[in-house]
Amino acid sequence: MQIVIIGSGNVASVLGRLCKQRGHEIVQVVSRNTSHAKLLADELKCAYADYNEKLNDSAGLYILAVADTALQELNKSINLGTKLILHTAGSVSKEVLKDISLNYGVLYPLQSLRKEMEYETDIPFLIDGNSAETLTLVEDFAGTLSTNVTKTSDDERLKLHVAAVVVSNFTNHLYAIAEDFCKKENVDFALLTPLIKETAERVAHFSPAAVQTGPAVRNDIFTIEKHLRILADHPQLKYMYIKLTDSIMTSPPTPSPKGEEA
Ligand SMILES: NC(=O)c1ccc[n+]([C@@H]2O[C@H](COP(=O)([O-])OP(=O)(O)OC[C@H]3O[C@@H](n4cnc5c(N)ncnc54)[C@H](OP(=O)(O)O)[C@@H]3O)[C@@H](O)[C@H]2O)c1
Repeated sequence: MQIVIIGSGNVASVLGRLCKQRGHEIVQVVSRNTSHAKLLADELKCAYADYNEKLNDSAGLYILAVADTALQELNKSINLGTKLILHTAGSVSKEVLKDISLNYGVLYPLQSLRKEMEYETDIPFLIDGNSAETLTLVEDFAGTLSTNVTKTSDDERLKLHVAAVVVSNFTNHLYAIAEDFCKKENVDFALLTPLIKETAERVAHFSPAAVQTGPAVRNDIFTIEKHLRILADHPQLKYMYIKLTDSIMTSPPTPSPKGEEA
């Protein structure tokens, strides 16, 4: 498949490389900032352009991997007739593309992607299309990139994006404030890495509510008060600690799986 990539950020770079690896040809990278377009195009060994220059109109697929806000703006400036165009956003309806082409859809990577990183395991994709025929085309294409492809509506994708923000962006933020706490208190954050891995690995096998551990689920007020005293000089972390402790304590009890500590 000949592909034009519009955008040059994290998703454009990771998908561009993956498409090439899987035997597709990237024919052009188009981006608002010419130097960003050139950087990715040089890596993918293809042509590049900014939005004032001519879009290659002979490709079979156009992947629009730009900031959510830019999708609305580009909608007014590109017309691709019947060419297949896909955006990569979790919380934007596929209908944002309806004035660009008669065939449009979504190729949303349900993964946290950074262009500096290598991805060895399959990236999960949530896909959509504006008709049964388009959806089949998207499914066939996504199947060349990953074995983990799921059809979802705009509404389902939006809900999964909310859950994705909680499990990935929020937990990472908690790691960041815990790291800051460790630095200020002169203890080694790296010692927590096995615990972080174990907690993440566990939810692949058990419902998270059923494997909750820690002082809040044990109703251990003595330990919680000790922690809050240590956190007196860390107001942001203390705030999060109190909110999350309260959330855990007020969650309905769930039976623990056999053999797990409660
Ligand atoms: N990163 C992830 O983990 C991830 C995962 C799944 C889905 N997504 C979605 O994929 C899309 C791209 O995300 P990303 O992480 O690749 O973003 P990013 O790294 O910040 O790159 C954003 C891209 O959008 C372009 N852009 C920004 N504002 C623009 C505007 N006003 N007009 C035209 N172009 C503009 C930038 O072009 P220039 O650099 O040329 O200015 C850049 O190429 C978003 O919809 C995001 O929600 C991201």
